[in-house]
Amino acid sequence: MFPALVPADRLLLAAVGMLFVRLCCSSVAPQDIPPIAAFFGTKTRYEDVNPHLLRDVYSVDPSVLKPPLNERCSPVHLTAVIRHGTRFPTAKNIRRIQKLSDLVRAEASRGSPGSWRRWDMWYKEDMDGQLVAKGWDDLRQLARRLAVLFPDLLSQENVRERRVSFLTSSKHRCVSSVQAFQEGLQRPEDGDVQFSHQVDDELLRFFERCSSYVEGVEKNRTALQEVEKFKHGEEMEAVRRRVAEKLGLPRHRLTPDLVEAAFFLCSYELSIKTLHSPWCFLFQEDDAKVLEFKSDLKQFWKRFHGHVINGLSSCSLFHHVFRTLDKAGRPRRSTDAAPEPASILVGHAETLLPLLSLLGLFKDKIPPTANNYHTQHGRSFRSSRIVPYAANLLFVLYDCQRGPRLQLLLNESPVRFPGLESEDAPLYRDVRATLRHLLDGCDFNKECEGRAPSRAPNTEL
Ligand SMILES: *[C@@H]1O[C@H](CO)[C@@H](O)[C@H](O)[C@H]1NC(C)=O
Repeated sequence: MFPALVPADRLLLAAVGMLFVRLCCSSVAPQDIPPIAAFFGTKTRYEDVNPHLLRDVYSVDPSVLKPPLNERCSPVHLTAVIRHGTRFPTAKNIRRIQKLSDLVRAEASRGSPGSWRRWDMWYKEDMDGQLVAKGWDDLRQLARRLAVLFPDLLSQENVRERRVSFLTSSKHRCVSSVQAFQEGLQRPEDGDVQFSHQVDDELLRFFERCSSYVEGVEKNRTALQEVEKFKHGEEMEAVRRRVAEKLGLPRHRLTPDLVEAAFFLCSYELSIKTLHSPWCFLFQEDDAKVLEFKSDLKQFWKRFHGHVINGLSSCSLFHHVFRTLDKAGRPRRSTDAAPEPASILVGHAETLLPLLSLLGLFKDKIPPTANNYHTQHGRSFRSSRIVPYAANLLFVLYDCQRGPRLQLLLNESPVRFPGLESEDAPLYRDVRATLRHLLDGCDFNKECEGRAPSRAPNTEL
Protein backbone atom coordinates (compact mmCIF):
# COMPACT_ATOMS: atom_id res chain seq x y z
CA MET A 1 0.00 0.00 0.00
CA PHE A 2 1.34 3.42 -0.88
CA PRO A 3 -0.11 6.44 0.86
CA ALA A 4 -0.43 9.23 -1.66
CA LEU A 5 -1.12 12.92 -1.49
CA VAL A 6 -1.74 14.25 -4.93
CA PRO A 7 -3.38 17.66 -5.07
CA ALA A 8 -1.23 18.85 -7.97
CA ASP A 9 -2.13 16.30 -10.61
CA ARG A 10 -5.68 16.26 -9.36
CA LEU A 11 -6.01 19.95 -10.07
CA LEU A 12 -4.36 19.50 -13.43
CA LEU A 13 -6.75 16.75 -14.37
CA ALA A 14 -9.68 18.78 -13.19
CA ALA A 15 -8.52 21.71 -15.30
CA VAL A 16 -7.98 19.54 -18.36
CA GLY A 17 -11.35 17.98 -17.71
CA MET A 18 -13.16 21.30 -17.65
CA LEU A 19 -11.43 22.44 -20.80
CA PHE A 20 -12.38 19.22 -22.51
CA VAL A 21 -16.01 19.62 -21.60
CA ARG A 22 -16.15 23.20 -22.83
CA LEU A 23 -14.46 22.39 -26.12
CA CYS A 24 -16.08 19.21 -27.06
CA CYS A 25 -19.50 18.68 -25.75
CA SER A 26 -22.83 20.16 -25.60
CA SER A 27 -25.31 17.94 -23.90
CA VAL A 28 -27.59 15.88 -26.04
CA ALA A 29 -31.31 16.31 -25.70
CA PRO A 30 -32.88 13.16 -24.22
CA GLN A 31 -34.69 12.38 -27.46
CA ASP A 32 -31.35 12.25 -29.28
CA ILE A 33 -30.04 9.28 -27.30
CA PRO A 34 -29.56 6.22 -29.49
CA PRO A 35 -32.36 3.72 -28.76
CA ILE A 36 -29.66 1.07 -28.22
CA ALA A 37 -27.92 3.03 -25.42
CA ALA A 38 -29.08 0.75 -22.60
CA PHE A 39 -27.53 -2.38 -24.17
CA PHE A 40 -23.84 -1.52 -24.11
CA GLY A 41 -22.89 -3.92 -21.29
CA THR A 42 -19.96 -2.60 -19.29
CA LYS A 43 -19.77 0.34 -21.69
CA THR A 44 -23.21 1.59 -20.72
CA ARG A 45 -23.54 5.08 -19.28
CA TYR A 46 -24.68 5.26 -15.68
CA GLU A 47 -27.52 7.59 -16.63
CA ASP A 48 -28.91 5.10 -19.13
CA VAL A 49 -29.40 2.77 -16.15
CA ASN A 50 -30.80 5.64 -14.07
CA PRO A 51 -32.59 7.82 -16.66
CA HIS A 52 -33.89 10.28 -14.04
CA LEU A 53 -30.29 11.55 -13.91
CA LEU A 54 -30.62 12.73 -17.51
CA ARG A 55 -33.03 15.37 -16.27
CA ASP A 56 -31.16 16.25 -13.09
CA VAL A 57 -27.82 14.68 -12.39
CA TYR A 58 -28.02 15.66 -8.72
CA SER A 59 -31.47 14.25 -8.06
CA VAL A 60 -31.52 11.96 -5.05
CA ASP A 61 -34.33 9.76 -3.86
CA PRO A 62 -34.04 9.28 -0.08
CA SER A 63 -36.80 6.65 -0.16
CA VAL A 64 -34.25 4.11 -1.47
CA LEU A 65 -33.04 3.83 2.12
CA LYS A 66 -35.45 1.33 3.63
CA PRO A 67 -34.76 0.41 7.23
CA PRO A 68 -37.95 -0.47 9.18
CA LEU A 69 -39.80 2.75 9.98
CA ASN A 70 -40.72 1.74 13.51
CA GLU A 71 -37.18 1.03 14.69
CA ARG A 72 -35.76 4.54 14.59
CA CYS A 73 -32.74 3.56 12.52
CA SER A 74 -29.94 5.83 11.46
CA PRO A 75 -27.09 5.03 9.06
CA VAL A 76 -23.79 4.60 10.95
CA HIS A 77 -21.52 3.38 8.20
CA LEU A 78 -21.28 3.22 4.42
CA THR A 79 -18.93 0.95 2.49
CA ALA A 80 -19.02 1.72 -1.23
CA VAL A 81 -17.37 -0.47 -3.86
CA ILE A 82 -17.31 1.69 -6.95
CA ARG A 83 -16.27 1.11 -10.55
CA HIS A 84 -14.26 3.85 -12.27
CA GLY A 85 -16.15 6.28 -14.50
CA THR A 86 -16.37 6.60 -18.28
CA ARG A 87 -13.05 5.90 -19.92
CA PHE A 88 -11.34 5.79 -23.28
CA PRO A 89 -11.30 2.47 -25.10
CA THR A 90 -8.38 0.22 -24.22
CA ALA A 91 -5.52 -0.03 -26.73
CA LYS A 92 -6.90 -3.35 -28.01
CA ASN A 93 -10.27 -1.81 -28.80
CA ILE A 94 -8.67 1.27 -30.32
CA ARG A 95 -6.76 -0.99 -32.72
CA ARG A 96 -10.03 -2.70 -33.64
CA ILE A 97 -11.74 0.63 -34.23
CA GLN A 98 -8.81 1.66 -36.43
CA LYS A 99 -9.19 -1.53 -38.45
CA LEU A 100 -12.90 -0.97 -38.86
CA SER A 101 -12.41 2.63 -39.89
CA ASP A 102 -9.72 1.66 -42.44
CA LEU A 103 -11.87 -1.11 -43.86
CA VAL A 104 -14.94 1.08 -44.21
CA ARG A 105 -12.93 3.89 -45.80
CA ALA A 106 -11.35 1.56 -48.33
CA GLU A 107 -14.14 -0.85 -49.15
CA ALA A 108 -17.56 0.33 -48.06
CA SER A 109 -19.71 1.13 -51.05
CA ARG A 110 -19.70 4.78 -51.99
CA GLY A 111 -23.42 4.65 -52.45
CA SER A 112 -24.14 3.68 -48.84
CA PRO A 113 -26.19 6.41 -47.16
CA GLY A 114 -24.35 6.66 -43.81
CA SER A 115 -21.49 9.00 -43.07
CA TRP A 116 -19.31 6.16 -41.87
CA ARG A 117 -16.72 6.65 -44.58
CA ARG A 118 -16.19 10.26 -43.58
CA TRP A 119 -15.97 9.53 -39.86
CA ASP A 120 -12.78 10.91 -38.34
CA MET A 121 -10.77 8.31 -36.41
CA TRP A 122 -9.66 10.43 -33.47
CA TYR A 123 -8.79 7.73 -30.89
CA LYS A 124 -5.07 7.23 -30.29
CA GLU A 125 -3.56 4.12 -28.78
CA ASP A 126 -2.02 6.00 -25.86
CA MET A 127 -5.50 6.97 -24.62
CA ASP A 128 -5.57 3.34 -23.46
CA GLY A 129 -8.36 3.10 -20.93
CA GLN A 130 -7.77 6.46 -19.24
CA LEU A 131 -10.59 8.25 -17.47
CA VAL A 132 -12.23 10.91 -19.67
CA ALA A 133 -13.73 14.23 -18.53
CA LYS A 134 -17.18 12.64 -18.46
CA GLY A 135 -15.77 9.91 -16.21
CA TRP A 136 -14.49 12.57 -13.83
CA ASP A 137 -18.03 14.01 -13.75
CA ASP A 138 -19.52 10.54 -13.15
CA LEU A 139 -17.62 10.13 -9.89
CA ARG A 140 -17.85 13.74 -8.75
CA GLN A 141 -21.62 13.70 -9.24
CA LEU A 142 -22.00 10.30 -7.58
CA ALA A 143 -20.11 11.64 -4.54
CA ARG A 144 -22.39 14.67 -4.34
CA ARG A 145 -25.50 12.51 -4.50
CA LEU A 146 -24.19 10.14 -1.85
CA ALA A 147 -23.35 13.10 0.39
CA VAL A 148 -27.01 14.16 0.12
CA LEU A 149 -28.24 10.62 0.75
CA PHE A 150 -25.91 10.17 3.75
CA PRO A 151 -25.53 13.66 5.22
CA ASP A 152 -24.25 12.39 8.58
CA LEU A 153 -21.70 9.97 7.13
CA LEU A 154 -20.24 12.02 4.29
CA SER A 155 -20.65 15.22 6.31
CA GLN A 156 -18.39 18.22 5.86
CA GLU A 157 -16.89 17.56 9.23
CA ASN A 158 -16.09 13.92 8.47
CA VAL A 159 -14.58 14.94 5.15
CA ARG A 160 -12.57 17.80 6.65
CA GLU A 161 -11.37 15.66 9.55
CA ARG A 162 -10.43 12.93 7.07
CA ARG A 163 -12.47 10.23 8.76
CA VAL A 164 -13.53 8.74 5.43
CA SER A 165 -11.07 6.22 4.01
CA PHE A 166 -10.26 5.83 0.32
CA LEU A 167 -8.71 2.76 -1.31
CA THR A 168 -8.19 2.35 -5.03
CA SER A 169 -6.80 0.05 -7.70
CA SER A 170 -3.50 1.29 -9.08
CA LYS A 171 -4.90 1.81 -12.57
CA HIS A 172 -4.81 5.39 -13.70
CA ARG A 173 -8.57 5.52 -14.38
CA CYS A 174 -9.29 4.35 -10.82
CA VAL A 175 -6.88 6.77 -9.14
CA SER A 176 -8.43 9.60 -11.18
CA SER A 177 -11.88 8.33 -10.20
CA VAL A 178 -11.12 8.40 -6.49
CA GLN A 179 -9.84 11.96 -6.85
CA ALA A 180 -12.97 12.95 -8.73
CA PHE A 181 -15.08 11.41 -5.97
CA GLN A 182 -13.13 13.39 -3.37
CA GLU A 183 -13.66 16.58 -5.34
CA GLY A 184 -17.38 15.85 -5.26
CA LEU A 185 -17.33 15.65 -1.45
CA GLN A 186 -15.65 18.99 -1.05
CA ARG A 187 -17.58 22.22 -0.51
CA PRO A 188 -16.01 25.49 -1.68
CA GLU A 189 -16.27 27.00 1.80
CA ASP A 190 -13.88 24.36 3.15
CA GLY A 191 -10.90 25.60 1.18
CA ASP A 192 -8.64 22.98 -0.30
CA VAL A 193 -8.99 19.83 1.81
CA GLN A 194 -5.88 17.67 1.41
CA PHE A 195 -7.35 14.31 0.52
CA SER A 196 -5.36 11.14 0.47
CA HIS A 197 -5.94 7.64 -0.77
CA GLN A 198 -4.16 4.32 -0.67
CA VAL A 199 -3.51 2.02 -3.59
CA ASP A 200 -4.41 -1.58 -2.83
CA ASP A 201 -4.33 -3.99 -5.76
CA GLU A 202 -4.49 -7.03 -3.52
CA LEU A 203 -7.96 -5.92 -2.53
CA LEU A 204 -9.17 -4.32 -5.76
CA ARG A 205 -7.35 -6.27 -8.48
CA PHE A 206 -7.50 -9.68 -6.75
CA PHE A 207 -8.48 -11.30 -10.04
CA GLU A 208 -5.00 -11.06 -11.53
CA ARG A 209 -3.38 -12.46 -8.37
CA CYS A 210 -5.56 -15.54 -7.97
CA SER A 211 -3.66 -18.37 -9.71
CA SER A 212 -6.58 -20.80 -9.72
CA TYR A 213 -8.62 -18.15 -11.47
CA VAL A 214 -5.92 -17.09 -13.95
CA GLU A 215 -5.08 -20.69 -14.91
CA GLY A 216 -8.59 -22.12 -14.67
CA VAL A 217 -10.55 -19.36 -16.41
CA GLU A 218 -8.60 -16.48 -17.86
CA LYS A 219 -6.01 -18.55 -19.71
CA ASN A 220 -8.35 -21.47 -20.29
CA ARG A 221 -10.01 -21.43 -23.70
CA THR A 222 -12.62 -24.02 -22.83
CA ALA A 223 -13.75 -21.96 -19.83
CA LEU A 224 -15.13 -19.37 -22.25
CA GLN A 225 -16.32 -21.68 -25.00
CA GLU A 226 -19.93 -20.48 -24.79
CA VAL A 227 -18.75 -17.02 -25.78
CA GLU A 228 -16.78 -18.34 -28.77
CA LYS A 229 -19.70 -20.48 -29.91
CA PHE A 230 -22.15 -17.62 -29.70
CA LYS A 231 -19.77 -15.29 -31.53
CA HIS A 232 -20.01 -17.58 -34.57
CA GLY A 233 -23.58 -18.70 -34.00
CA GLU A 234 -26.69 -17.86 -36.02
CA GLU A 235 -27.81 -14.79 -34.04
CA MET A 236 -24.43 -13.07 -34.44
CA GLU A 237 -24.27 -14.11 -38.09
CA ALA A 238 -27.60 -12.43 -38.75
CA VAL A 239 -26.40 -9.20 -37.13
CA ARG A 240 -23.23 -9.37 -39.16
CA ARG A 241 -25.19 -9.85 -42.38
CA ARG A 242 -27.41 -6.84 -41.68
CA VAL A 243 -24.51 -4.57 -40.70
CA ALA A 244 -22.40 -5.59 -43.71
CA GLU A 245 -25.34 -4.86 -45.96
CA LYS A 246 -25.85 -1.38 -44.52
CA LEU A 247 -22.17 -0.59 -44.93
CA GLY A 248 -22.08 -2.05 -48.41
CA LEU A 249 -19.28 -4.41 -47.46
CA PRO A 250 -18.83 -8.03 -48.50
CA ARG A 251 -19.87 -10.03 -45.44
CA HIS A 252 -16.65 -12.03 -45.19
CA ARG A 253 -14.69 -8.78 -44.72
CA LEU A 254 -16.64 -7.85 -41.62
CA THR A 255 -15.55 -10.18 -38.81
CA PRO A 256 -17.64 -10.55 -35.63
CA ASP A 257 -14.94 -8.55 -33.82
CA LEU A 258 -15.40 -5.67 -36.25
CA VAL A 259 -19.19 -5.77 -35.85
CA GLU A 260 -18.60 -5.45 -32.12
CA ALA A 261 -16.09 -2.64 -32.72
CA ALA A 262 -18.79 -0.67 -34.56
CA PHE A 263 -21.25 -1.27 -31.72
CA PHE A 264 -18.70 -0.18 -29.11
CA LEU A 265 -17.80 2.83 -31.23
CA CYS A 266 -21.41 3.98 -30.97
CA SER A 267 -21.11 3.53 -27.19
CA TYR A 268 -17.80 5.40 -26.92
CA GLU A 269 -18.95 8.36 -28.99
CA LEU A 270 -22.03 8.59 -26.78
CA SER A 271 -20.33 8.12 -23.41
CA ILE A 272 -17.22 10.19 -24.11
CA LYS A 273 -18.54 12.95 -26.36
CA THR A 274 -22.30 12.72 -25.82
CA LEU A 275 -22.68 12.19 -29.54
CA HIS A 276 -25.27 10.20 -31.41
CA SER A 277 -22.78 8.91 -33.93
CA PRO A 278 -23.53 7.45 -37.38
CA TRP A 279 -22.24 4.07 -36.18
CA CYS A 280 -25.34 3.75 -33.99
CA PHE A 281 -27.57 3.63 -37.08
CA LEU A 282 -26.03 0.29 -38.07
CA PHE A 283 -27.95 -1.44 -35.29
CA GLN A 284 -31.61 -2.06 -34.60
CA GLU A 285 -32.65 -2.69 -31.04
CA ASP A 286 -32.80 -6.44 -31.73
CA ASP A 287 -29.21 -6.39 -32.97
CA ALA A 288 -28.15 -4.53 -29.83
CA LYS A 289 -29.82 -7.19 -27.69
CA VAL A 290 -27.81 -9.89 -29.43
CA LEU A 291 -24.57 -7.97 -28.89
CA GLU A 292 -25.52 -7.31 -25.28
CA PHE A 293 -26.07 -11.02 -24.78
CA LYS A 294 -22.64 -11.69 -26.24
CA SER A 295 -21.10 -9.32 -23.66
CA ASP A 296 -23.19 -10.88 -20.89
CA LEU A 297 -22.00 -14.36 -21.86
CA LYS A 298 -18.42 -13.15 -21.57
CA GLN A 299 -18.97 -11.48 -18.20
CA PHE A 300 -20.99 -14.41 -16.90
CA TRP A 301 -18.38 -17.05 -17.72
CA LYS A 302 -15.32 -14.94 -17.11
CA ARG A 303 -16.32 -12.95 -14.01
CA PHE A 304 -19.62 -14.20 -12.61
CA HIS A 305 -21.50 -17.38 -11.68
CA GLY A 306 -20.11 -19.26 -14.70
CA HIS A 307 -17.25 -20.63 -12.61
CA VAL A 308 -17.20 -20.83 -8.82
CA ILE A 309 -13.63 -19.58 -8.66
CA ASN A 310 -14.68 -16.25 -10.23
CA GLY A 311 -16.56 -15.35 -7.06
CA LEU A 312 -14.11 -16.99 -4.69
CA SER A 313 -11.25 -14.92 -6.10
CA SER A 314 -12.84 -11.95 -4.29
CA CYS A 315 -12.62 -13.54 -0.83
CA SER A 316 -10.15 -10.95 0.46
CA LEU A 317 -12.39 -8.10 -0.58
CA PHE A 318 -15.40 -9.86 0.92
CA HIS A 319 -13.63 -10.24 4.27
CA HIS A 320 -12.36 -6.68 4.15
CA VAL A 321 -15.91 -5.38 3.71
CA PHE A 322 -17.32 -7.49 6.53
CA ARG A 323 -14.48 -6.69 8.92
CA THR A 324 -15.17 -3.01 8.29
CA LEU A 325 -18.89 -3.54 8.93
CA ASP A 326 -18.18 -5.60 12.07
CA LYS A 327 -16.09 -2.79 13.48
CA ALA A 328 -18.62 -0.12 12.62
CA GLY A 329 -21.50 -2.10 14.12
CA ARG A 330 -19.79 -3.14 17.32
CA PRO A 331 -21.47 -1.85 20.49
CA ARG A 332 -19.45 1.00 21.99
CA ARG A 333 -19.48 3.12 25.08
CA SER A 334 -20.12 6.80 24.70
CA THR A 335 -16.45 7.45 25.45
CA ASP A 336 -15.22 5.25 22.58
CA ALA A 337 -14.06 6.88 19.37
CA ALA A 338 -16.75 7.21 16.71
CA PRO A 339 -16.64 4.44 14.08
CA GLU A 340 -15.31 5.08 10.60
CA PRO A 341 -18.28 6.72 8.86
CA ALA A 342 -17.47 5.59 5.33
CA SER A 343 -15.05 3.48 3.36
CA ILE A 344 -14.73 4.17 -0.35
CA LEU A 345 -13.19 1.46 -2.55
CA VAL A 346 -12.60 2.16 -6.23
CA GLY A 347 -11.95 -0.63 -8.71
CA HIS A 348 -13.24 -2.22 -11.87
CA ALA A 349 -16.20 -4.15 -13.28
CA GLU A 350 -13.88 -7.12 -12.69
CA THR A 351 -13.83 -6.15 -9.00
CA LEU A 352 -17.59 -5.78 -8.60
CA LEU A 353 -18.86 -8.78 -10.56
CA PRO A 354 -16.99 -11.47 -8.58
CA LEU A 355 -18.09 -9.88 -5.30
CA LEU A 356 -21.73 -9.81 -6.45
CA SER A 357 -21.36 -13.41 -7.55
CA LEU A 358 -19.91 -14.44 -4.20
CA LEU A 359 -22.86 -12.79 -2.46
CA GLY A 360 -25.15 -14.89 -4.66
CA LEU A 361 -26.88 -12.02 -6.45
CA PHE A 362 -28.47 -12.22 -9.92
CA LYS A 363 -28.40 -15.98 -9.99
CA ASP A 364 -30.81 -17.20 -12.65
CA LYS A 365 -32.00 -20.81 -12.66
CA ILE A 366 -30.61 -21.45 -16.12
CA PRO A 367 -27.21 -20.02 -17.00
CA PRO A 368 -26.83 -18.18 -20.33
CA THR A 369 -25.21 -20.32 -23.02
CA ALA A 370 -24.47 -20.10 -26.72
CA ASN A 371 -27.71 -21.93 -27.52
CA ASN A 372 -30.32 -20.35 -25.30
CA TYR A 373 -30.42 -16.69 -26.34
CA HIS A 374 -34.14 -16.90 -27.09
CA THR A 375 -35.10 -18.11 -23.62
CA GLN A 376 -32.88 -15.60 -21.78
CA HIS A 377 -34.78 -12.36 -22.38
CA GLY A 378 -36.02 -12.30 -18.80
CA ARG A 379 -32.63 -13.06 -17.23
CA SER A 380 -31.65 -11.06 -14.16
CA PHE A 381 -27.99 -10.99 -15.16
CA ARG A 382 -27.73 -7.94 -17.40
CA SER A 383 -24.25 -6.42 -17.31
CA SER A 384 -25.62 -3.18 -18.76
CA ARG A 385 -27.71 -2.68 -15.62
CA ILE A 386 -25.26 -4.13 -13.13
CA VAL A 387 -21.85 -2.74 -14.14
CA PRO A 388 -22.21 0.43 -16.22
CA TYR A 389 -19.50 3.08 -15.80
CA ALA A 390 -19.39 4.32 -12.18
CA ALA A 391 -21.38 1.27 -11.03
CA ASN A 392 -21.53 1.12 -7.26
CA LEU A 393 -22.41 -1.42 -4.61
CA LEU A 394 -23.31 0.22 -1.30
CA PHE A 395 -23.35 -1.57 2.04
CA VAL A 396 -25.33 0.63 4.40
CA LEU A 397 -25.14 -0.23 8.08
CA TYR A 398 -27.89 1.19 10.29
CA ASP A 399 -28.08 1.48 14.02
CA CYS A 400 -31.59 0.36 14.97
CA GLN A 401 -33.47 -0.45 18.17
CA ARG A 402 -33.20 -4.20 17.61
CA GLY A 403 -29.52 -3.98 16.69
CA PRO A 404 -27.57 -3.16 13.55
CA ARG A 405 -29.17 -3.70 10.15
CA LEU A 406 -27.60 -3.90 6.72
CA GLN A 407 -28.98 -2.79 3.37
CA LEU A 408 -27.47 -3.27 -0.07
CA LEU A 409 -27.91 -0.83 -2.92
CA LEU A 410 -26.66 -1.39 -6.43
CA ASN A 411 -26.37 1.72 -8.57
CA GLU A 412 -28.44 3.58 -5.98
CA SER A 413 -31.35 1.11 -6.06
CA PRO A 414 -32.12 -1.35 -3.25
CA VAL A 415 -31.28 -5.01 -3.81
CA ARG A 416 -32.12 -7.76 -1.36
CA PHE A 417 -29.77 -10.35 0.09
CA PRO A 418 -30.25 -13.81 -1.37
CA GLY A 419 -31.83 -15.91 1.35
CA LEU A 420 -33.19 -12.84 3.19
CA GLU A 421 -35.58 -11.56 0.54
CA SER A 422 -38.39 -10.63 2.92
CA GLU A 423 -36.66 -7.44 4.10
CA ASP A 424 -34.74 -4.59 2.51
CA ALA A 425 -32.54 -4.11 5.54
CA PRO A 426 -32.33 -7.34 7.54
CA LEU A 427 -30.64 -7.52 10.93
CA TYR A 428 -26.89 -7.58 10.49
CA ARG A 429 -26.68 -10.74 12.58
CA ASP A 430 -29.07 -12.48 10.17
CA VAL A 431 -26.93 -11.41 7.22
CA ARG A 432 -23.89 -12.82 8.97
CA ALA A 433 -25.73 -16.07 9.71
CA THR A 434 -26.72 -16.40 6.05
CA LEU A 435 -23.13 -15.78 4.94
CA ARG A 436 -21.63 -17.91 7.71
CA HIS A 437 -20.03 -20.37 5.27
CA LEU A 438 -18.15 -17.52 3.64
CA LEU A 439 -17.29 -15.67 6.84
CA ASP A 440 -15.80 -18.85 8.25
CA GLY A 441 -14.16 -19.92 5.01
CA CYS A 442 -13.58 -18.26 1.67
CA ASP A 443 -9.85 -18.10 2.17
CA PHE A 444 -7.91 -16.48 -0.66
CA ASN A 445 -4.78 -18.57 -0.10
CA LYS A 446 -6.72 -21.81 -0.06
CA GLU A 447 -9.04 -21.04 -2.98
CA CYS A 448 -6.50 -19.30 -5.18
CA GLU A 449 -3.19 -20.89 -4.34
CA GLY A 450 -4.24 -24.25 -2.93
CA ARG A 451 -2.39 -23.39 0.28
CA ALA A 452 -3.45 -23.77 3.89
CA PRO A 453 -5.82 -21.05 5.14
CA SER A 454 -3.90 -17.95 6.14
CA ARG A 455 -5.71 -17.10 9.34
CA ALA A 456 -8.21 -18.26 11.91
CA PRO A 457 -11.86 -18.16 10.88
CA ASN A 458 -13.55 -14.83 11.31
CA THR A 459 -15.42 -15.17 14.58
CA GLU A 460 -16.14 -11.54 15.37
CA LEU A 461 -19.57 -10.65 16.76
C1 LIG B 1 -10.71 -25.24 -18.23
O1 LIG B 1 -12.14 -25.08 -18.21
C2 LIG B 1 -12.86 -26.29 -18.29
C3 LIG B 1 -14.33 -25.93 -18.45
O2 LIG B 1 -14.76 -25.09 -17.44
C4 LIG B 1 -12.56 -27.15 -17.08
O3 LIG B 1 -13.28 -28.37 -17.13
C5 LIG B 1 -11.06 -27.41 -17.00
O4 LIG B 1 -10.74 -28.11 -15.81
C6 LIG B 1 -10.27 -26.11 -17.05
N1 LIG B 1 -8.84 -26.35 -17.16
C7 LIG B 1 -7.97 -25.93 -16.23
C8 LIG B 1 -6.53 -26.15 -16.56
O5 LIG B 1 -8.28 -25.42 -15.19
